Amino acid sequence: MTPRRLVERRIVLATHNKGKARENAALLATRGVDVVTAGELGLPEPAETETTFIGNATIKALAAARAAGQVAMADDSGFSVRALDGAPGVYTADWAQQPDGSRDYAQAMAKVERLARHDRDRAAWFSCALVLAWPDGHVEGFLGEAHGTWVWPPRGDRGFGYDPMFVPAGGTQTFGEMEPAAKHAISHRAAAFAKLASACLD
Ligand code: IMP
Repeated sequence: MTPRRLVERRIVLATHNKGKARENAALLATRGVDVVTAGELGLPEPAETETTFIGNATIKALAAARAAGQVAMADDSGFSVRALDGAPGVYTADWAQQPDGSRDYAQAMAKVERLARHDRDRAAWFSCALVLAWPDGHVEGFLGEAHGTWVWPPRGDRGFGYDPMFVPAGGTQTFGEMEPAAKHAISHRAAAFAKLASACLD
């Protein structure tokens, strides 16, 4: 089936995560698409009950599209370590969750290091699922990955989340040290967006 084209010039970004919102808004802006975030519209955050990135992004995009009556795009993403059989993966945000409801990424990165440090295999990757949903329930989903290695200690204060402990293949700087434009050129999010753009925007 041919993918549905996105003709709207303004869509809802179904995320409450500032780092993801910033990067997705920048990617969409390159194609002339403007965003309003689910947070700005006061939409609730649905529970992420699926076990795949595409599944959880679909829940978030559909909930926002139906609540707002507009096309919505959701981003579900995560960090995977091969020595941990792909964990934290879809549970990446959960590993940062604190009892008071806040998220502590320094602690989450330290947990990865504590569990994986005795393994010589340092392979790691980021995944990103981008799902577009229409108010009538139609969805289009795309998955992107960025492969590399995890490093310790974390380096760099650009970016967000687990960026300071990831060095992309062929690079020397962590995502946390790189210029935003350099991360954009090779990130999991950019890879997913390139597929989305080619299917729904070109
Ligand atoms: P979720 O998609 O809301 O389940 O959360 C994904 C989590 O993965 C975020 O809270 C981030 O910590 C992490 N994450 C996703 N993408 C990136 C990225 O580009 N850099 C660093 N961390 C990321």
